[in-house]
Amino acid sequence: MLRVAVLASGRGSNFSALLEDSRAADAGYTVVGLYSDQPSAPALELAREQGLDQACIARRGHASREAFDAAFFARVMRIQPHLIVCAGYMRIISATALANLDVPMFNIHPSLLPLYPGLDTHARALAAGDREHGASVHLVTPELDGGPVIAQARVAVQHDDNPAALAARVLIQEHRLLPACVRLLASGRLQIDRQQPWLDGAPLAAPLQLHDGVLQ
Ligand code: GRF
Repeated sequence: MLRVAVLASGRGSNFSALLEDSRAADAGYTVVGLYSDQPSAPALELAREQGLDQACIARRGHASREAFDAAFFARVMRIQPHLIVCAGYMRIISATALANLDVPMFNIHPSLLPLYPGLDTHARALAAGDREHGASVHLVTPELDGGPVIAQARVAVQHDDNPAALAARVLIQEHRLLPACVRLLASGRLQIDRQQPWLDGAPLAAPLQLHDGVLQ
């Protein structure tokens, strides 16, 4: 069983989707804990209600990003995860912390990367006149939202769209995409070797696409 630790700073709807999916008999993975940098994150409350291991490590009291990350990831690794998933974890992780981790880390990002790393992705896609938008799951590297993309889900932009409506439709896809990627890793078909995703024994040449809930 693949042991998954989730990092979240806020609402936690992706965490919730992962938790629910993990309880299916054929999921192949279990969510072992939730870790946050924000004491008021609703995701923490949900983890408490569900009786999961959880902790909040606040930035205060740590002299540098590296010092914070060292404390944060020491706590996360106590639960011995095989995979760390950033699901709305709103902190940049230091290169030192990433280099010291010996488990892969996924992030879910609300755009079709490499388009729109960073914030306000929905408004930026609309401002650019894009016909298509979506979400990506990628490996976390020191470059913000810049690691290899494992899979994407696409959403058509409507002629009368606004950022909130578009975000809501993308979020529905996020809740399918993230569990599908974790299942793929749990199944052994997807493997991560030094920041290179491999699928069925070959380097992943292009991001997988989610169609009708299935990664292709
Ligand atoms: C999601 O849109 C995710 O893609 C982004 O932050 C948001 C988190 O939402 N990284 P939630 O906390 O999972 O509801």
